[in-house]
Amino acid sequence: MTILLDSASVDDAAAAAELGFVRGITTNPALMARETKEPLAHLERLLAVFPEGPVCYQPTGTSFAAMREEARAAASLAPDRVVAKLPATLDAVRLAGILTGEGIRCALTAVYSPAQALLAHEAGCVWIIPYVDRAARHSDGGLTVVNSLAAMLARLQSDTRILAASLKSSVQVSDSILHGAHDVTAPLDVLRGLPAHPLTESAVREFAAAWPQT
Ligand code: E4P
Repeated sequence: MTILLDSASVDDAAAAAELGFVRGITTNPALMARETKEPLAHLERLLAVFPEGPVCYQPTGTSFAAMREEARAAASLAPDRVVAKLPATLDAVRLAGILTGEGIRCALTAVYSPAQALLAHEAGCVWIIPYVDRAARHSDGGLTVVNSLAAMLARLQSDTRILAASLKSSVQVSDSILHGAHDVTAPLDVLRGLPAHPLTESAVREFAAAWPQT
């Protein structure tokens, strides 16, 4: 199981690197647009501030050729670390097959159906990325989606992993794993909130009171 940061902020990446349990980063064009007008240069900054692990980069271009060239340029910055993240369309499936053949790891993102999981498997993607909270708001429920993707990948005996995304709470993070996701990506505030529990906090207060600090 791998926990990733879902952000394009350099400050968030630096803070996540300090947490000790975050192993990589996911970005998307909307997150990038909040931080920069030069996404490839910004990707280099993220790679530098978060020095190990996968960084998922989603091309900002939308045509097949634009996505292909931007994904290649991103991967060339750190071939062992950059994962090309592509929205689950026909073009993206075709492109993922080509890039995978070139040795560039790919992920299909904005995944909501087992049919998309099947195609990600066929294209050799390392991850499919379901949007749990968005699915919870618009369809059968985010965890039902995760369940059905997990069933499809198990049926195919696939090496493709499920990276649950669009996670807005610690419960969504843990429930995603319990429902079949292999890995999770979440914003910094959600990651920081993972250990929070009122009974843990009251126990900490009790222990501290037993040994007043000087
Ligand atoms: C995943 O990689 C996406 O960046 C992200 O989780 C999208 O979902 P959101 O915009 O609902 O947070």
